[in-house]
Amino acid sequence: MVRPADSVKQPLDENAPLQSLDAWEDDLLKRYPEDESPESQSERDGFRNYEEDTRSGVREFYRLNHRYQTVDFVRAQREKYLPLRQRRMSIWEAMETLNSLTDDSDPDTELPQIAHAVQTAEAIRGDGHPEWFILTGLIHDLGKVLCLFNEPQWAVVGDTFPVGCAFSDKIVLAEFFANNPDMHVPEYQTACGIYEEHCGLDNVLMSWGHDEYLYHVVKDYLPEESLAMIRYHSFYPAHREGEYEHLMNDHDQKMFKWVRRFNPYDLYTKSEAQPDMDRLLPWYQKLVDKFFPNELAW
Ligand SMILES: [Fe+2]
Ligand SMILES: [Fe+2]
Repeated sequence: MVRPADSVKQPLDENAPLQSLDAWEDDLLKRYPEDESPESQSERDGFRNYEEDTRSGVREFYRLNHRYQTVDFVRAQREKYLPLRQRRMSIWEAMETLNSLTDDSDPDTELPQIAHAVQTAEAIRGDGHPEWFILTGLIHDLGKVLCLFNEPQWAVVGDTFPVGCAFSDKIVLAEFFANNPDMHVPEYQTACGIYEEHCGLDNVLMSWGHDEYLYHVVKDYLPEESLAMIRYHSFYPAHREGEYEHLMNDHDQKMFKWVRRFNPYDLYTKSEAQPDMDRLLPWYQKLVDKFFPNELAW
């Protein structure tokens, strides 16, 4: 079943510059703060007491991510993972696995990944959204189980972006793309690159990570709005910066309204009180059973 926590902790090597996977999401909060009022700013600064090395870890993380996410790499990852032949497990096994991946060196919280999942879902439930939306909140990060298969952090988390066309300069730390070999492939460096204008994101290769992977695991079981939220929740260059519209079709534009509705629940629910798991888990168990079979192919 689930491996013990020790065997899935991130190894301390050059592929793991972040103290934990959460460090990337914590950094997102600095880039996209919920509310810029001085009061909330000082509250946040007090709460998030980052060490200098966390920051350089994030930079190093993006240096690797932007260097290695190429068309060839994405194609190879898709070939490796999208047949979904790694293992069979239930949503809850994936959840427990993800829980054990959490590194408790996070500076502000010892909440494991499962708490982020339940907090996101609870905030969505609190706003009266439908069950599929709540379920999306619960499972949206389960693709991070890619760490189990020894994927480096830069191939699991991080803002996502299309490969095979010009990298937007609105992508965080875009200067690091200078070291990406695709910069030397002229075909990949026009606005549309290997794609047709407005071809639709379904035809676009996204940088590889937990979003795309989970989308393929769950795509037969959830409505399309939910699938868009899962597949593009880390696509900050599009849903926050408004880039890459020239690759989107009308359907994508409709779906991105949902991606944008989802994003605040993902980003801004983490610091709230720890959910009472014993009380909540039976309700979520039922919800998962409504949509998913006992086992899924990962
Ligand atoms: Fe995520
Ligand atoms: Fe998340």
